[in-house]
Amino acid sequence: MRELCYNAGMRFDIFTLFPGIFESPLRESMLKRAIESGLLQVQLHNIRDYAEGRHQVTDDYPYGGGGGMVMKPEPVFTAVESVLGIGDRGSGFRDQAAGQSSTPALHPQRGASVSNRQSTIPIVLLTPQGRVFNQRMALELAQYDRVALICGRYEGFDERIRQHLATDEISIGDYVLTGGELAALVILDAVIRMKPGVLGDPTGAVDDSHASGLLEYPHYTRPPEFRGWQVPEVLLSGDHAKVDRWRREQALRRTWTRRPDLLELVELTESERAWLRQLAQDGA
Ligand code: 6GU
Repeated sequence: MRELCYNAGMRFDIFTLFPGIFESPLRESMLKRAIESGLLQVQLHNIRDYAEGRHQVTDDYPYGGGGGMVMKPEPVFTAVESVLGIGDRGSGFRDQAAGQSSTPALHPQRGASVSNRQSTIPIVLLTPQGRVFNQRMALELAQYDRVALICGRYEGFDERIRQHLATDEISIGDYVLTGGELAALVILDAVIRMKPGVLGDPTGAVDDSHASGLLEYPHYTRPPEFRGWQVPEVLLSGDHAKVDRWRREQALRRTWTRRPDLLELVELTESERAWLRQLAQDGA
């Protein structure tokens, strides 16, 4: 187990066969600063360290035959249970969990064991078969003080890991990666930037794409003219109300053009709806 930080803050326990994958992303930019300022704590746990025997085997052939290897249950259960202090060797996590805040589990109906269902620590399995990650799930995970992420390799996890250890299964999109590590980093990044103070600008996480349910409006910075391309006049006008209106319109237009599926979930004013209908009619 490698500890990157000893400070308090939101804590991620990441279970992986390749802890090295996380080293450089955690040492750059926002994640690095979040760790240094104590807002983020990441502990990497090598699943192999919890495997038994001289060879510390973590995978095995699938029952029933077929290609590929399957991640064995014992090392994963042992790793997660000993780090979180649950299960047979538990150190009172169950009692502790019962007394903690009653933040609802992401998936309270899921088939995790009793101790996990009561737990206030989501145990997330990274798998292409999970719920597809989005901004709402990032916000939801950001409500917890501590989150466990389990990264898979090989063809998959022994089903008992899903059924009796994990409280949630998350995918980051409809494509297949060689393992859950990059997905864990995506989730870590999206979640931790929701925390107040992690971004320099306190409104940073409020305005951006998907926070409002809309895609973001176009941004410009100096110079006002670059290779003959002008910054829209309205942004130079100093009229804040006009700028706000322009940005909202741009965000709506962009969302309507690129991601119309998102519009169904957004709260719009009647005049915005009228404007979008007009846009649709004009074929703009
Ligand atoms: Cl979480 N894991 C793997 N292996 N592939 C993925 C994924 C996760 N999310 C999308 N593709």
